Amino acid sequence: MLRRRPLLPHWLLIAACLSLLLLLISCTPSHPQSTFDAAGPVSRSQLNLFWVIFWASLGVFVVVVGALLYSVVRFREKPGQAMPTQVHGNRKLEIAWTVAPALLLGAIAVMTVQTLFELEDPPSDNPLQVRVVAHQWWFEAIYPEYNVTTANEINVPVGRDVSFTLDSEDVIHSFWVPKLSGKMDVIPNVTNATWFRADEAGVFYGQCAEFCGVAHALMKFRVVAQPPEEFEQWLAAQQAPARTPTEGAALAGQTVFSAKGCIVCHTVTGPDTEALRASRNRGFLDGQPLTHGPNLTHFASRGSFAGSIMETDDENLAAWLRDPEQVKPGNRMSRLAAAFNDPALELSESDISALVAYLQSLE
Ligand code: CUA
Repeated sequence: MLRRRPLLPHWLLIAACLSLLLLLISCTPSHPQSTFDAAGPVSRSQLNLFWVIFWASLGVFVVVVGALLYSVVRFREKPGQAMPTQVHGNRKLEIAWTVAPALLLGAIAVMTVQTLFELEDPPSDNPLQVRVVAHQWWFEAIYPEYNVTTANEINVPVGRDVSFTLDSEDVIHSFWVPKLSGKMDVIPNVTNATWFRADEAGVFYGQCAEFCGVAHALMKFRVVAQPPEEFEQWLAAQQAPARTPTEGAALAGQTVFSAKGCIVCHTVTGPDTEALRASRNRGFLDGQPLTHGPNLTHFASRGSFAGSIMETDDENLAAWLRDPEQVKPGNRMSRLAAAFNDPALELSESDISALVAYLQSLE
């Protein structure tokens, strides 16, 4: 007996189902980087526009594919059928399917342009100013009104507009916090701007969204939205100079920090460190000043480091210091070590544990 061949091979059917499942999972609003869970007015407007376009497209899809399937089934060739009437063109139909899409696209264009204008500037006249500088492969955040510089984590007050200026120190990056706002390119020698507002407290995950080199996928950051009082406390703590260790492993770590050259790239604001740092500056690597490593003044107050790919804890810090290339390939710290190739800069295990203690003391 003849078995009918299935319409699709089994493997293709399974692959299609799995892909569909993956696609649907990626839409879950509970995903930390889901654009379907808007937590502020900017992402909400963008999401609303998306839904309008999505439902309009789905409507078009259903009408067009429905008409196609209907015609295929209804007018299929039947045995003994005579030649059907031959027609050429139908003016009314052609006008209809030219005018309808034009109207639909026109409406979408109006809504899109409206949203673009609405989101151009923050509505409040007193937004918090944050300057973001993208580096391969981490984000720096500077609060110019408060003289605060931090890295990888951007603290913002809940309910207040935050206005960002975006600069890049090297190549093109893109600044994106899916739950708070859409992407904005970060381009060297061009200052772009964007803004958002967080309606609720929480940690919102961001990601560089423009391919920018080997560790692009590891260029993440976090937005920490805090109630206004908590944010004020955070600001005050960030404005203070770094704690100076007085004894134990942290003090030993501070010595390693200056002796091994960490201080050349990383700022730790304090009376002793700045003079030391200036005296040890070694100039440039790949045309950029060496001083442009993440500011570590209040390193231990951040939940993550190394492009926000690692949680701040002793074990992760030690792993990073032991072999940064393993953690984030191509990063500047390992390239620098290779460029100078100076055994005096290598870290022993006791150097590493002292450095970990020092960094963890920088609250
Ligand atoms: Cu920076 Cu991708």
